[in-house]
Amino acid sequence: MRAVTYTRYGGPDVLRLADVPAPVPGDREILIRVRAAEATKSDCEFRSFRFPVKATWLPLRLVLGVTRPRRPVLGMYFAGEVVSAGGRVTRFAPGDQVYGCTGLRLGAYGEFVVLPDRAALAPKPRTMTFAEAAAVPLGGLNALHFMRRARIRPGEQVLINGAGGSIGAHAVQIARSMGADVTAVDHGTKEDFVRRLGAGDFVDYSTVDVTTTGRTFDVIFDMVAASPYRRLVGMLRPGGRYLHGNPRLSVLVRSVPATRFTDKTVTVAFAPETSEALATLTKLIEAGVVRPIVDRIYPMAEAAVAHRRVETEQRLGAVVIAVDERDEQPV
Ligand SMILES: NC(=O)c1ccc[n+]([C@@H]2O[C@H](COP(=O)([O-])OP(=O)(O)OC[C@H]3O[C@@H](n4cnc5c(N)ncnc54)[C@H](OP(=O)(O)O)[C@@H]3O)[C@@H](O)[C@H]2O)c1
Repeated sequence: MRAVTYTRYGGPDVLRLADVPAPVPGDREILIRVRAAEATKSDCEFRSFRFPVKATWLPLRLVLGVTRPRRPVLGMYFAGEVVSAGGRVTRFAPGDQVYGCTGLRLGAYGEFVVLPDRAALAPKPRTMTFAEAAAVPLGGLNALHFMRRARIRPGEQVLINGAGGSIGAHAVQIARSMGADVTAVDHGTKEDFVRRLGAGDFVDYSTVDVTTTGRTFDVIFDMVAASPYRRLVGMLRPGGRYLHGNPRLSVLVRSVPATRFTDKTVTVAFAPETSEALATLTKLIEAGVVRPIVDRIYPMAEAAVAHRRVETEQRLGAVVIAVDERDEQPV
């Protein structure tokens, strides 16, 4: 099968389109033809092995390969079609259109992927193309997890830091659907994009430090590793909740006393990826609550260009790799 591969860690040019053996499913596994995969910030971090949160370096190196990548096909979030299901699989049948996550097995940048029947998979939303659906699992699952944990009440003021990214753009929509008034912080080029998703107010981080605006919030959701923890927590109203999806070790350590000894709650977490949460997202999408956030779609041969856009350009939403040429679009 064709796949975007990498055999050493490095810049976008380590990505190569190559022929590799197709995976073979076992009795409890599902073989999926991938139609489209999101090229995420995490994929770029795995490829280059440079992480904003340094504490993740060693454990991930042990999992992904010490001297070179152990799994040569990147990609964790995709949409595709079930080709076959092992004899003991009851959840899916050939022809089913699905979307989901491969987890640390990776592999979504290849034409076929094999996943266990317990993997985070759900029927693809009927209202989305494969490319649009591939852009949902990362951002949607993280946003849903954190917005639920924030226990947002209608009318609350919610600040989303990094609101124009894959996770932030879904969080804006989900927080809005819970009745929050959303203030988005991101680069000024993304203001119209996040306002269209439901943000009522916008702060351009490249010109204004939001912590100097005197504003206060009931909930702050932060996806920016280098953000000023103390000053952001200082913007919380009594009973306020600060949730960090990309925390440095120091934030992790400070979250415990902050939650125990003040009237504020600090939550740091990695969002679990489950089929149930994906099914909830499908409902939100089909109800029109969560809308597509695709920025650009690149063919497999241009995976390096796609990664460069994710890493260095001001994109509006998710960058997608069309693993099947039916899902390609002129860039
Ligand atoms: N907790 C988890 O379970 C989990 C799961 C997946 C990923 N992550 C991590 O979370 C991070 C974000 O993920 P993502 O996929 O949403 O990334 P993303 O799509 O790159 O979004 C990040 C957004 O934050 C913006 N930003 C950068 N610096 C900022 C600042 N100082 N203030 C406000 N906004 C700023 C970026 O804008 P620019 O374009 O201007 O840089 C971008 O729009 C990644 O590092 C990823 O590894 C965590």
